[in-house]
Amino acid sequence: MGSRRIERVAVLGSGIMGHGIAQISAMAGYRVTMRDVEQQFLDKAMERIRWSLGKMVEKGRISSSEMDEIMGRISVTVDIERAVKDSDLVIEAIPEEMRLKKETFARIDALAPSHAVFASNTSTLPITEMADATKRGDRFIGIHFFNPPQLMQLVEIIPGASTSTSTVDIAMGYVRSLKKEPILCRKDVAGFIVNRIFIPLVHEAAWELKEGKASMREIDAGFKFRLGFPMGIFELADYTGIDVVHKATKEMYSRDRKVVNPCPLVEELYAKGHYGQKSGKGFYEYGQGSYARIELSMQEAERYDPVRLLAVAINNASWLISNDVAGKEDVERALILGMGLKEGIFAIAGRVGYARLVDTLRALRIGSRNEFYEPDSWLLNLVKSSS
Ligand code: 3HC
Repeated sequence: MGSRRIERVAVLGSGIMGHGIAQISAMAGYRVTMRDVEQQFLDKAMERIRWSLGKMVEKGRISSSEMDEIMGRISVTVDIERAVKDSDLVIEAIPEEMRLKKETFARIDALAPSHAVFASNTSTLPITEMADATKRGDRFIGIHFFNPPQLMQLVEIIPGASTSTSTVDIAMGYVRSLKKEPILCRKDVAGFIVNRIFIPLVHEAAWELKEGKASMREIDAGFKFRLGFPMGIFELADYTGIDVVHKATKEMYSRDRKVVNPCPLVEELYAKGHYGQKSGKGFYEYGQGSYARIELSMQEAERYDPVRLLAVAINNASWLISNDVAGKEDVERALILGMGLKEGIFAIAGRVGYARLVDTLRALRIGSRNEFYEPDSWLLNLVKSSS
C-alpha cells in the first residue's frame, strides 16, 4: 500500500487476543471493526473491553470521556465482507487451525481492498503457508501480540518468504503507533521468539510436577520469585489458556522435535476441557470473574530451585541466536516485554552459572535420551569462552 496511511483496522476474532487488539487499535485512534461468527462472542468481547478501559480510567491512564471516544471507534459485525471491505489492515486472531485460517484469508483476499495488508496474530503457525492462500504474499505478515495485549509491550513481527520490506515497515509503524515495541523475528520458525521459550517451560514445569520434584504451588513460586517472572508458570499457562498452549505445542512439535518435550499432563487437561481461567479450571481452580491471580509465597519459593526451567529456557534462547532468528539483545528484550520478566534471562543465567545450566541439560539428555536437552552450540561456546 506504499505510503498510504492506515486508518481502518479490521480484527477477525474477538476472543482473548482479538478483543485486546481491537481495543488498543481504537486507543491509538484507528477506526476498528471487530468480527466474529456469533453476536454473543462480540457482546462478550465488548464487555471485556469496557472492563479493561474501566480499569484504565480507575488508574487515571485515560479519562471517562476518552473511554467513550475509544468505544465509539469500535464497531462489531458478524458479516465478514462488511468487516474487511474498507480496511487498510486486517489482523486475524481466529482459532489456531491452519485450514480455517487459510480459508478465511482466501475468502477475504477477494473482499478486502487490494492495498490492504493482511496480518496473522498466530502463536506458532507458519506465516508463509497462510500467505500462500492469498494473492498478496508481499502484503502479508505475522503481527504477534502477547496476552494481555492491553498491558504487554512486545509485539513480534514475522515476515513470510514473500513479505515486502514496505509491509514490514507498515507493520512496525502500526505497532509503534500503539506505543508498543516491535521486535523482528527474522525467520518464520516454530514458536517465533517468545513461544519458543514459554511453551517448553510449561512442559518442563509439568514434568517436574509429574516426577514429584515439588508441588504445583512450589514450582510456581520458585519460577516467579527466583527467576523474576510476574506469574507462576502454571498460573501463566492457565491465564494464556491450556487450549492455546496445547495447540501451540502440537504445532511446534510437528514442525521441530527439538523445540519442546511435551508432557502428557497438558494434553490430559486439554482433553478434559480444563482450559484454564476461561473454563474455571486448568492447573488451578478459579471462581467467576474476568481476572484472577494465584497468591504465591516466598516460603513456597524456597522449596523449589527452578534451575531445570532456566536451563531449558536458556537452551532454546541460545538456539534462536545460533540460528540467526534474533540477536541476544532482542531475545532478552522480547522476554522482558512479552513475559514481564524483571531482568534479562541471560543476566539471570549469568548469576546461576552457564556451566551449571549445561551440566543440568547434559544430565537430562543422558537420563531421557531426548535430543531436546542437547546443549546448543552457542551456549557451549559461551561456557568455553568464559572458563
Ligand atoms: N486491561 C486493563 N487492566 C488489566 C488487564 C487488562 N486486560 N488485566 C489486568 N489488569 C489490571 C488488574 O485488574 C490489576 O488491577 P488492580 O490493580 O485494580 O487490581 C492491574 O492490572 C495489575 O494486575 P496485577 O495486580 O495482577 O499485577 P501484575 O503486576 O502482575 O500485572 C500482568 C498483570 C501484566 C498480566 C502481569 O502479571 C504479567 O505480565 N504477566 C505475564 C503475562 C505473560 O507472560 N504474557 C505472555 C503470555 S504468552 C502469549 O501471550 C503468546 C501467545 O501466543 C500464547
